[in-house]
Amino acid sequence: MNELPAYLRATGEAYDSVVAAYADLARDHLDGHPLDRSVLTAFADHARAAATGPVAELGCGPGYVTAHLRGLGLDAFGVDLSPAMVDFARAAHPHLRFDVGSMDALGLADGELGGIVSWYSVIHAPPRELPSYLAEFRRVLAPGSPLLLAFFESEGGPVAAFDHKVTTAYRWPIDELARLAREAGFTEVGRMLREPGAQERFRRGHLLMRAEPRPPGETTD
Ligand SMILES: C[S@@+](CC[C@H](N)C(=O)[O-])C[C@H]1O[C@@H](n2cnc3c(N)ncnc32)[C@H](O)[C@@H]1O
Repeated sequence: MNELPAYLRATGEAYDSVVAAYADLARDHLDGHPLDRSVLTAFADHARAAATGPVAELGCGPGYVTAHLRGLGLDAFGVDLSPAMVDFARAAHPHLRFDVGSMDALGLADGELGGIVSWYSVIHAPPRELPSYLAEFRRVLAPGSPLLLAFFESEGGPVAAFDHKVTTAYRWPIDELARLAREAGFTEVGRMLREPGAQERFRRGHLLMRAEPRPPGETTD
């Protein structure tokens, strides 16, 4: 973890310091948001139909979304930058696999995954870095596999940083994020916008994409 760029070290350390408080906030989130559950259910249906391999929740934090995916019948595991979050996730869900790692440099083979969920985790990537995150997602996904991105939507404004409670995060125009994903080799399956609920500040964006086959002759190195 010592070779991480400064912004990733800062993000990991920021989450290391708030594990219990963050886990308390995240624990019941899905129970109170049927639309959020519906996009995870749609993702799971697509992953099952593709049947292309295990599913990773990247930036899994305390692991509740990973456990939800497992409850939907997927072979799901979690990856997070924060070792303390991974310790928490392992203790809270001892039957599931959680790895420490960064989602922009996964120690996984090309085409190894049958689905990726990034549930409010690419929000911390500086916008200039996002294309390389999406390229890594496409590299590790088998063609035909789904990618689900959940994020704070910018409601008509440009991509912009905001005062996230843990560490710097960015709100994205949904069209801009969809465009970057298309450029990385994904096709849009669908999208869902949800207005902020009680105690929420921003509109929530969800993009369901599908990894397309790589053009013949394209290499990943
Ligand atoms: C807002 S939390 C979301 C956690 C979880 N997905 C949930 O919704 O409960 C963001 C998580 O992403 C992780 N994260 C941020 N950047 C990451 C990266 N490059 N690789 C892996 N994890 C990352 C953070 O450590 C943090 O646990």
